[in-house]
Amino acid sequence: MSDSAQVTDLLHRPLRDLRISVTDRCNFRCVYCMPKEVFDKDYKFLPRAQLLTFEEIEQVVRAAAQLGVSKIRITGGEPLVRRDLEALISQIRQVPGITDISMTTNASLLTAERARSLREAGLQRITVSLDAIDDETFKRVNDVDVSVQDVLDGIDNAAKAGFVDTKVNMVVKKGLNDHSILPMARYFHNSGHILRFIEFMDVGNSNAWDLSHVVTSAQIAERINAELPMEPVEANYRGEVAKRWRFNDGGGEMGIISSVSAPFCGDCSRARLSATGSIYTCLFASSGHDLRPALRESDGQDRVVQELSKLWSLRTDQYSETRTQVAVLRPKVEMSFIGG
Ligand code: GTP
Ligand code: 5AD
Ligand code: SF4
Ligand code: SF4
Repeated sequence: MSDSAQVTDLLHRPLRDLRISVTDRCNFRCVYCMPKEVFDKDYKFLPRAQLLTFEEIEQVVRAAAQLGVSKIRITGGEPLVRRDLEALISQIRQVPGITDISMTTNASLLTAERARSLREAGLQRITVSLDAIDDETFKRVNDVDVSVQDVLDGIDNAAKAGFVDTKVNMVVKKGLNDHSILPMARYFHNSGHILRFIEFMDVGNSNAWDLSHVVTSAQIAERINAELPMEPVEANYRGEVAKRWRFNDGGGEMGIISSVSAPFCGDCSRARLSATGSIYTCLFASSGHDLRPALRESDGQDRVVQELSKLWSLRTDQYSETRTQVAVLRPKVEMSFIGG
């Protein structure tokens, strides 16, 4: 890492993670994320020419690393729909200071070959989104008729390619899939994979979120604990979003992410880069800061360091801590655009 100063925001939070959305497209239409009524055949996805090139993304990563970023997460939409992602991963791998590269995917396109090539390129960890373990519920969620088995095959392919401790994320929405909490916990208990339940959040403008749709982390823990007793575990690192739990019978661990009932903005060290080159300092932001003009200057990287540093040093975001106090009528960026 170069010796540029590490940067902290106005709430003294350092910049440690950069989450990179490589596309706004997805082959799923999860009803809570990309409902078909909005994301239909007339929806204007980003044209290719507007996407950052891998070289531009790499420059942003280099700049971010100079300011203290060590963790990169590749997201989408669905990142595996972006061609040649392996090339981007090997480029990021070379950046001094980057010690962790992970990806969030729905795994439906994670063939054995793709898992191997991603591993060879330097991807270290995979998180898979899976919202139910029975086909009827899962298909109702993804709305494109993909079976649970296709995702489980993707998870297996990752394991065979050498990925360990793969995490599985389940967004819980009351009335949609909350009956799957226990079946999912049973399935992933003793599996070597870490299941994490996520409270349904009010991201974006399309998912018709309402507090009554949220099953709280306390309720989730109570339901699981009644059948599979567990005890809390210390966080792996400061600012970890998931609260960890360990099954008392040695069946491994699971986690719960409570962005609604117990927000974690106090330690939030995450910046997000859209596929078009805008930086968002919060998942719930209305707008981002366009880095493209800086990237296209001859001293692009220095300019990006300056802009990122200024942006972060003025940051005050803590949306989840204040959502109940502010009337949120302003538009928010879509999860499929910024990646979660
Ligand atoms: P590692 O600990 O590095 O494995 O990753 P992680 O725990 O950050 O997990 P991941 O990136 O998979 O995030 C899991 C989910 O937590 C996301 O899909 C979001 O739903 C939620 N989440 C992650 N970061 C934030 C955040 O900054 N704010 C809010 N409100 N939710 C977040
Ligand atoms: N609330 C919580 N998590 C969400 N995700 C998408 N939309 C929401 C929401 N409204 C999750 C996905 C995936 C990650 C990209 O974000 O399930 O795991
Ligand atoms: Fe696609 Fe993930 Fe959104 Fe589902 S939650 S539509 S898999 S980006
Ligand atoms: Fe960070 Fe914004 Fe999420 Fe709070 S709501 S944890 S500030 S991204």
